[in-house]
Amino acid sequence: MIALDVIIAKDVNEMSMTAARIMADLVRKKPNCVLGLATGSTPIPMYKELIRLHKEEGLDLSRVRSFNLDEYYPIDPTHNQSYRYFMDHHLFDHINIKKENTRVPDGRTKDIAAHCASYEAQIKEAGGIDIQILGIGSNGHIGFNEPGSAIYSRTRLVVLTERTIQDNSRFFDSMDEVPRFAITMGIGTILASRHSILLANGKYKAEAVAKLAEGPVTSQCPASALQLQEKATIIVDEEAGSKLERKDYYNHVRALMSQLQK
Ligand code: PGA
Repeated sequence: MIALDVIIAKDVNEMSMTAARIMADLVRKKPNCVLGLATGSTPIPMYKELIRLHKEEGLDLSRVRSFNLDEYYPIDPTHNQSYRYFMDHHLFDHINIKKENTRVPDGRTKDIAAHCASYEAQIKEAGGIDIQILGIGSNGHIGFNEPGSAIYSRTRLVVLTERTIQDNSRFFDSMDEVPRFAITMGIGTILASRHSILLANGKYKAEAVAKLAEGPVTSQCPASALQLQEKATIIVDEEAGSKLERKDYYNHVRALMSQLQK
C-alpha cells in the first residue's frame, strides 16, 4: 500500500515512544541496520527513550551505522551548535554505537561538491538507509531542503531561508551567529530510504503538517514529497495534527489495522 501512514499521538511522549519503538524493533531485527538521523528539538525525547532502551533493556546498537540529514556550513564539529556536537551529546555518547560508524556532513570541508558526492556514495555502500528520521520546519522543510528544493535533489550545499535562520536563532547567542548555509541530504536522498518517519509536535507545526499530508505534492512544501515514498509514517501530537482534515479517517485506519494484526 502506498499511502502516508498518519499517527496522531495524544502527546509528545506518545509520539516519541512510538517512533523509538519502531527504531528499536528494526535494530533487534537487523542489528547492522542503517539509520538516518535528524537533529532539532523534536527528536530529543525519542533519543532519550533509545538511550533508556539501551541502558535498561540491553538494546545493542554496536553494529548500527548512521547518517545524519544535515549540518550547518561553515561550522566546526566542536561548536556547541554543530549537528555533530548535538548527536554526540544527545545520543551517540550514551549508547554503544561505534563513533566511526556515525556520519554527519562535514561543516568544515573545503571541497563541498566532492564531500557531498562522497556522502551519497557512502550511503549507497552501506546498503541504503533503512529508517530515516525527519523533523519538519514551520515552512515545510525536511533536512535543510527549503521550499523550492527539487524533489530529486541529492546531498548539496543550500542557502537557508530567513525563516529558518529566525527559527534557529534561539539556539545561538545572536541572529548574526546563525550560519547562512548548510549541507543537506536532498529530497531524493530521503525518498531513497526504505522508510521515512517524520515527527512533529506543537501548534506551530500544524499548518506545515496539514500541507505535507493533505496538500498537493509540491517543491513549495518539501515534506509533501513523502506522499511519493513507498513507506512513510507521520507521527504527530494532537496540536501538530490539529489542522488535518482527515483526522477521523487516520484514526479509523489505525483502529482497523490493529484489529487485523491481533
Ligand atoms: P525542530 O526543527 O525539531 O527544532 O522544530 C525541525 C526542523 O527544522 O526540521
